[in-house]
Amino acid sequence: DEDTRATAETAADMATTLRAAAPAKVNLYLHVTGRRADGYHLLDSLMAFAAVHDVVTVAPADDLSLTVDGPNAAALADLDPSDNLILRAARALAETAGVAACARLTLTKHLPVAGGIGGGSADAAAALRGLYRLWDLTLDDATMLDLALGLGADVPVCLYGRAAHVSGIGEVLDPAPALPAAPLLLVNAGAPVSTPEVFGRRRGPFSRPAPLRDAPVNALALAQDLAGRGNDLEPPARTLCDAVGETLDLLTAQAGALLTRMSGSGGTCFALFASEAEAEAARRAIAEARPHWWVARTRLVDDARALAPDPPSA
Ligand code: C5P
Repeated sequence: DEDTRATAETAADMATTLRAAAPAKVNLYLHVTGRRADGYHLLDSLMAFAAVHDVVTVAPADDLSLTVDGPNAAALADLDPSDNLILRAARALAETAGVAACARLTLTKHLPVAGGIGGGSADAAAALRGLYRLWDLTLDDATMLDLALGLGADVPVCLYGRAAHVSGIGEVLDPAPALPAAPLLLVNAGAPVSTPEVFGRRRGPFSRPAPLRDAPVNALALAQDLAGRGNDLEPPARTLCDAVGETLDLLTAQAGALLTRMSGSGGTCFALFASEAEAEAARRAIAEARPHWWVARTRLVDDARALAPDPPSA
């Protein structure tokens, strides 16, 4: 009867529901090396991943839909859901593969939106990975990376899922040396920062840092390696958004912070710590001083593709 059939369908759907972690990306350094004729900026960035993440699920369906929940879902409420990068990713993948764009997608949003840690890019990459399996596709890596780049400059590295030296506008990926699982604090004051505006305000000469050659043995060695490199988007982000300077100052003031820096075009900033205990003490101090800010104590992960989606962190 109807009820039995409905139950059977639900059980079958659950069996084929795929869950993927969509981890935050962190620009350990970011230099602007030039500007293309179309206005896009050429970058040189060491990008890594953190163990804090959104969760994306994909399941079979007769049409394409997206449901958003989670602690930061409200930040997406004003956006037209059909513009969500996840749905654009699904439609682009279906078109490239020549299949019908049919799937039920859910996004559990933990990461701050427009925060410089690639939340939307990570979600899109996780959706691409999940749908690739759900639709049983066979497309080569170059096609997938091309498709990813069409969705945004940070989507290719999120699809790659491992720390990389990223250049071009985000499409040239070179594997980085293995990174330590350094204790990391991510802090976002809640003020969204517009990426085009930050790029638009960048002034000064272009510079190209030397890539990291050897694997740093621990957080301190990593912090020392990063010291001569920076984030060229920090000065314009500070002038656009007071909260960026405030966040950097607060992180720098924490005992044991080895290195403090903004990620991407901001406003999320991060600090590396030598120990979990110092990172936890800093987390508690900042959460107490700024109860409405988003504060996540996490660590760097070498291979973000291996992150288990459950339980959701932060
Ligand atoms: O590619 P994505 O959607 O993340 O970029 C948003 C905007 O940020 C672009 O339209 C561009 O104005 C700016 N941008 C840039 N150079 C990059 C990445 C982004 O100028 N490498």
